[in-house]
Amino acid sequence: MYNEIDLDAIDTTQEPPTEEPARQYYFMAKCRQWVREFEQKNGRRPFAFTQTFGCQMNARDSEKLRGILKEMGYEEASEEKADFVIYNTCTVRENANTRVYGRLGQLKPRKKKHPHMMIGLCGCMMQEPEVVEKLKKSYRFVDIIFGTHNIYKFAELVATRLLSGRMVIDIWKDTDRIVEDLPNQRKYTFKSGINIMFGCNNFCSYCIVPYVRGRERSRDPKAIIREIERLTADGVSEVMLLGQNVNSYGKTLDTPMTFAGLLKEIEQIEGLRRIRFMTSHPKDLSDELIEVMKNSKKICRHLHLPVQSGSTDILAKMNRRYTKEQYLELTEKIRKAVPDISLTTDIIVGFPGETEEDFEETLDVVRKVRYDSAFTFIYSKRTGTPAAVMENQVPQDVIKDRFDRLLKEVQAIAAETCAVHEGTVQEVLVEDICDHDPLMVTGRLSNNLLVHFHGGRELIGQYVDVELKECRGFYYIGQAIGI
Ligand code: SAH
Ligand code: SF4
Ligand code: F3S
Repeated sequence: MYNEIDLDAIDTTQEPPTEEPARQYYFMAKCRQWVREFEQKNGRRPFAFTQTFGCQMNARDSEKLRGILKEMGYEEASEEKADFVIYNTCTVRENANTRVYGRLGQLKPRKKKHPHMMIGLCGCMMQEPEVVEKLKKSYRFVDIIFGTHNIYKFAELVATRLLSGRMVIDIWKDTDRIVEDLPNQRKYTFKSGINIMFGCNNFCSYCIVPYVRGRERSRDPKAIIREIERLTADGVSEVMLLGQNVNSYGKTLDTPMTFAGLLKEIEQIEGLRRIRFMTSHPKDLSDELIEVMKNSKKICRHLHLPVQSGSTDILAKMNRRYTKEQYLELTEKIRKAVPDISLTTDIIVGFPGETEEDFEETLDVVRKVRYDSAFTFIYSKRTGTPAAVMENQVPQDVIKDRFDRLLKEVQAIAAETCAVHEGTVQEVLVEDICDHDPLMVTGRLSNNLLVHFHGGRELIGQYVDVELKECRGFYYIGQAIGI
């Protein structure tokens, strides 16, 4: 177990071990020596800053990076102060890439002024060969480049950079290995994301994720349970199970297991109060899962079920493998089994060939399902995906018009759906001091809606019964009961 390893007891004069994770602890120990020398010379420890782009998978990966940096002796600081800046990148849409290049441009003059500074890039964008080529050519000031499959090797890559002084690039095309038991530094003390699987085998025709995250691999259920037990012992009461398609969890294990089966086991863990998961693919959502959700005391009343489009034709071109009717039937079945469930979704506007009629079908689904919220995206062409070379790419002005109409519809319905809880008393897990008012705290309902109410820092991580006084579109203003 990682927190039992004494880095100072590792003999770094020996050759590094070949097995993992021992090898990485060896390199963490090496980096720690370098950090101590830095400290002696500069009278302070080196500062590190990690910026995450993209989804919860990346957020979780960044916690691992931060855990390793902490073991090495780095101190967290703002980007302006940092001696080591790491961007964990996303490439799901073009604008994610643009943002990273923009930020790199801003770092360049700082690095020139402070040559000791290190810059690391990792994550999904680095899995694209064209990106790495561009960085090698035009961004020579970057120090370390690695991808999504070898993130566990972070300590080794940092040590290599520190010892060699050269740009280090290590990208793997794919992997079948999962390295367990490395450090991680959680953002919150009371809740945590847990990877239950990596990669994706679905190849939706617009999506780059299967190319940059590799084939689907499920973690051993015992390792997942052990990790959650350890987290609950450490004060975590809410977990978010993470995977690109959690509903196909376990299919590739030596002893196959369903996602519903995994949930039933996780439900037994003492001290755990809330279970969330992300993301569910409609084609793999089983009756068994609905049954488990219905009977569970811990699974939150929220299901994120990306529809992407309401048109059966477009869904076929997207390779989503369900029809509009099947999707609607599924949501009805879920609502019947779990009436108080909140449904949310992802929608893409302007997929190649999308006609006005296709778009109307999407609006129809939005009106029928009445989502609590929806992430709406403008289709972004990703080189290498089948959709990038499809004919009939939709003109930008048409997309923009549809996007605005969709957003209006989604927001109007969400405001109505959200308001149905007004006046009720519900349990809230308090997450933070409210961004807009330091005398208030912000917490989350089981259905994932946010609530702001009067309270202090001592409530963070606590479950509080709150009366939902007023719905303000996407969140509530509440009042704590009995405090
Ligand atoms: N695995 C998840 C989604 C991961 S990506 C699932 O299947 O639901 C998150 C969202 O980004 C997707 O649901 C999709 O709506 C959006 N997305 C993915 N590729 C995109 C693209 N090329 N253009 C626009 N949006 C995209
Ligand atoms: Fe992308 Fe589809 Fe996999 Fe989701 S299920 S990550 S949208 S390929
Ligand atoms: Fe982006 Fe990678 Fe997630 S491409 S959405 S960070 S899996």
